[in-house]
Amino acid sequence: MSSIFSDRISDVPRSFIREILKVTVDKDVISFAGGLPNRELFPVEQLKQASAEVFDEAGKEALQYSNSEGYLPLREYIAKRYKTKNGLEVNPENILITNGSQQGLDLMAKIFLNETDDVMLEEPGYLGAIQAFQVYRASFNAVRLEKDGADIEHFKQILKHSKPKLFYTVPNFQNPSGISYSDEKRKIIAQLLTDKPIIVVEDDPYGDLRYTGREKKTFKSLMPEKTILLGTFSKTVVPSFRLGWLVAPAAYMERLVIAKQAADLHTNYFIQRLIFKYLSTHKIDSHIAVIRDRYDKQRTAMIAALRKYFPEGVDFTLPEGGMFLWVMLPEGISTMKLFDIAIQKKVAFVPGNPFYTDGRETNTLRLNFSCVDENLIDEGIKRLAEATRELLSTNKDY
Ligand SMILES: Cc1ncc(COP(=O)(O)O)c(C=O)c1O
Repeated sequence: MSSIFSDRISDVPRSFIREILKVTVDKDVISFAGGLPNRELFPVEQLKQASAEVFDEAGKEALQYSNSEGYLPLREYIAKRYKTKNGLEVNPENILITNGSQQGLDLMAKIFLNETDDVMLEEPGYLGAIQAFQVYRASFNAVRLEKDGADIEHFKQILKHSKPKLFYTVPNFQNPSGISYSDEKRKIIAQLLTDKPIIVVEDDPYGDLRYTGREKKTFKSLMPEKTILLGTFSKTVVPSFRLGWLVAPAAYMERLVIAKQAADLHTNYFIQRLIFKYLSTHKIDSHIAVIRDRYDKQRTAMIAALRKYFPEGVDFTLPEGGMFLWVMLPEGISTMKLFDIAIQKKVAFVPGNPFYTDGRETNTLRLNFSCVDENLIDEGIKRLAEATRELLSTNKDY
C-alpha cells in the first residue's frame, strides 16, 4: 500500500540523539550526551529587563507582523560585529534573520537542491545538517575529517568523481568532532573551489566560543561570492529564542527571501526586537567571556580526565573552543555496545554512528563538556574508561 506520507519525509529517521537523551534523564547518570549550552549562564534577568523595555517603548509595533528579511537594526548590528570581530565586510542587506541556523540549513536545501543532487559534507558531520539535507533527498559525498580539517586528498577525489552543488562545513570547533580547520587548509580548499560552481555553506555557531589558539580566516572572506555564512545567538545568548541569521551574496538573497516567506513569513519579530535591545544595552563580550571561562574549565577537566583514565590506544581531539570533544577507541570496538555498558555504570555519551551519513557502526564517540559540572567530569570519564576496559576485556565480538 502506498504511504500517505511524502517520499521526502518517509526516508528520514528520527534524530538519534533525541532518542538517546531519553535514557539519560535519570538524575544519577552523568551525561556527556547532550549538546546544550549551560543554562546556568542564561542572562535571564537581563532578558527580562530588555523584554519589559520593548513592551514599554514599542509594544504595539513589536507585536505586529514584520518584513521577511528581519529587523534592520539587528542586521546592522550583526554586520558591524563581523567587521570589528572578523574584519569581514558585510552589507546588512545581505543578511537574512532566520529561525536559528537550523532554518538556514533548510533554506539552503530548499533553494539549491533537486532530488539526488550531490552535497559534500564532513565525516563525521553535524547531524542536524544531515537530516535537513536528507529531507530534500540529497546524495551525500562525505569527506573524511582530520585534526586540522578535511582530508585534502579525499576532498580532491570527491571533486574529481562528482559534482557537489554544496559543500557544507563547520570550520570552527566542529560538532561533533571539536576540530578546527587550519588556515592552510582553508586556503587550499578555497583554491580548489576557485573555478567550481559550488556553494560553500559555512556554519559557524561556535566561533565566539574560542578558549585557546588564534582566530582563523572565514571561508566567507576567502570566497565571498561563493560562501553563505550561518550564525546564531543560540550559543552566546539563549537557544530557545531560535534566532539565527545567514549572510549570502546578493545574487542569492531574492530566492532566500522567497523561501523564507513560504516557510514562516518572518522570524519572531518581538524576539528580534528583544535581543536587539539586550545587545544594545549590555556588553555581550563580557557575557561571552563568562561563558568561555566556564566552558574552558570544563574542557580542561575533561582532557585531564581522559589522559588520566583512558588506556593506551585511545585517541581524542583537543578542541580549541566549542562544546564537544571526539574520542576514537581502538579499531573494531563498537561504541553502540559501549553505550549499553556505560549506561549501566551511569554515564552517557553519543556513539559516533549518527554522525556518518551511512550510519555505520564505529569506534568513535562524542562527548559534550558544556553541560556537566567541572567537578563531575572526572567521575564521569572514570566510569566511561571502566566501561571501555570492560568491553575491551571481553575481547571478542566488540
Ligand atoms: C553545527 C551546528 N549547526 C547548527 C546548529 C543549530 O543551531 P540553532 O540553534 O542556531 O538552530 C547547531 C546546534 O547545535 C550546530 O551544532
